[in-house]
This record gives sequence, structure tokens and C-alpha cells, in this order.
Amino acid sequence: MGQAELHVHIEGTLEPKHIFQLAERNKVKLKYPTLETLKEAYQFENLQDFLDLYFSGMSVLLTAQDFHDLAWAYLLKCKEENVRRTEIFFDPQAHTDRGVPLSAVMEGLGSACARAAAELDVSAALILCFLRHLSADAADAALTAAIPYVPPAAGAPPIIGVGLDSSERGNPPERFAAVFARARSLGLRRVAHAGEEGPPAYVRGALDALGVDRIDHGVRSLEDPELVERLVAEGMALTVCPLSNIKLCVFKDMRDHNLGLLLSRGIKATVNSDDPAYFGGYINQNFLETFEALDLDADAAYQLALNSFEASFAPPEDKARWI
Ligand code: ADE
Ligand code: ZN
Repeated sequence: MGQAELHVHIEGTLEPKHIFQLAERNKVKLKYPTLETLKEAYQFENLQDFLDLYFSGMSVLLTAQDFHDLAWAYLLKCKEENVRRTEIFFDPQAHTDRGVPLSAVMEGLGSACARAAAELDVSAALILCFLRHLSADAADAALTAAIPYVPPAAGAPPIIGVGLDSSERGNPPERFAAVFARARSLGLRRVAHAGEEGPPAYVRGALDALGVDRIDHGVRSLEDPELVERLVAEGMALTVCPLSNIKLCVFKDMRDHNLGLLLSRGIKATVNSDDPAYFGGYINQNFLETFEALDLDADAAYQLALNSFEASFAPPEDKARWI
């Protein structure tokens, strides 16, 4: 059966070794003199600590080939870990704002996804994320620029949806209501990071103001019993990222993680890797560490895998093949 991965940032799969290789290839000067000093910096007290390093790490990505190599390395990992379907986030503004043309990003990511379908039987699609620390106008401009890659105009694989990521605290979802409404009118699916560091009100905001199909993270929803009822009643999936939550101090220890509680309350939770190159592992490592710490059983494993396929945006005939 395998599983679907519904929450992975392609820029967060950029391994330290690959940062150094690309820096050399592209003649980019790094702040860290050695691989060891870079790795030592991977200690975060919160989301913002991580984001600072994440945005500086991706400065080595310049050409279509770089984006292809990045995505291909991740897609090989998917094959190895029996991920049959992946819906990959990317942050176009983080590249175009540094002068990298969107066409290079799309050519590189798009060709890697098409190659994965042909050579690996891994189904991959792209979700364009807006950076929420930037303005709604900037998000709108990013959407406009991406229209050539939105179906039916695009080649395979196209952009299937939009998301909202980056610094959550102080950046509630409501500011992005208009651009999400526009994405909806273009036939795009919608997801948003909410309730990672931000309060349950941000999860409600994502549901009400953005009309999302899934919530990314959402672990703080458990603080609000009425919200939990609503998530269950609507069959709303949460894309939970356990290793990320530990690395970013959302929970102190894996034994404190609420994945088991989310499942037992009937919430459609899934397990995902978020930024595996920064957080200590890909999807299987996330399963291994949560199952061991929380003493979850085979029923939970089956439920999580089933949830991941059900909550994916893949065509029903593909889902039937995987489940
Ligand atoms: N961008 C990459 N990883 C993220 C995360 N965990 N939360 C918000 N934005 C992100
Ligand atoms: Zn994320």
C-alpha cells in the first residue's frame, strides 16, 4: 500500500552535502566554511530560527538543472520509502525575489516530476506556496506569474494547488482571502499551514477565509474542542510532521506529541516529513520515531496510510490503485 506524502517543501529536502556541491558548481559563497559548521547550525528554538537557515540554504539553487537535481534526489527517496504519491510544496517567491526566473524553477521541478512518473512509478504534483511574511499583493503577483503552469495550459505535471507557509505567528490567514479565492476560481486546490505555532483561531481562519481542503500541521487544534468537532465532522485532513514539531520545539519530546490523540479523536491525521534535510529524516523516520515514542500499533499505521491517500488530490482511479 505504501503511502502518500502531502506535506514536504522541496527546498527543505536540500541536504547539507548538496548545498556544498551546488555552491561549488554555481560559485556561490556560503556563510559556513565547512559541512560540519553548517550542520552545527541546525539547532532551532522555533520556526523563525529554522526559516532563516532554510532561506539562506536555498541561495545555491539557480538553474533549472539545480531544481531538477533537487527534486530528483527527493523522488528517488520516495521510491526507496514506498511513497507512491507526493504533493510537493515549493516557494516561488523565495527564488524569483533573488532573480531566479520562475521558468527555471518550473522547468526543473516539472521535468523531475514527469521523470518520476515514467521511471519510478511515483506520482508527483506541485503546490505553489505563498510566503505569508510578504504582502497579499506579492502573493497575487506570484499567482499571476504561475498561470502558464496551471491546467489546462500546463504540461505535465502541472501546479495542482496553492498553499500558505513561512512565519505563522502574527500572519493570520485572513490577509490572503482574495488570492485564495482567485486560486479557487482557477480550479486550484487550497491548503495552508495553520496551528503549527499559531493558535486554533488560525486554523478556523484557514477554513473560513481561505476555504482550504487540508490543514498543514494543525496540531494546536486540540486546544479547542469545538474546532476538533468541526474537523471531524468535515473530514478535514491534517498533514502532521512529527520530527519537524520536535526540531522546532512545538513539542518538547516525541513522547509529548499529540498524533495518537488526534487519531483517537477521529481526526484524519497523516504523517509527513516537512523539511527532511533539516529535521532528521524522511517519512519512514517520522513513522519510526512516532510509533516507538507513542506506542502506536498496526491499526494506526494502516489508518495513517489510508488517510494519506484519501486526503490526496490524486485522481480517484490512481487512489484505487494504491489503496
Ligand atoms: N516552510 C518550510 N517549512 C515550514 C514550516 N514547517 N512552517 C512554515 N513554513 C515552512
Ligand atoms: Zn511545512
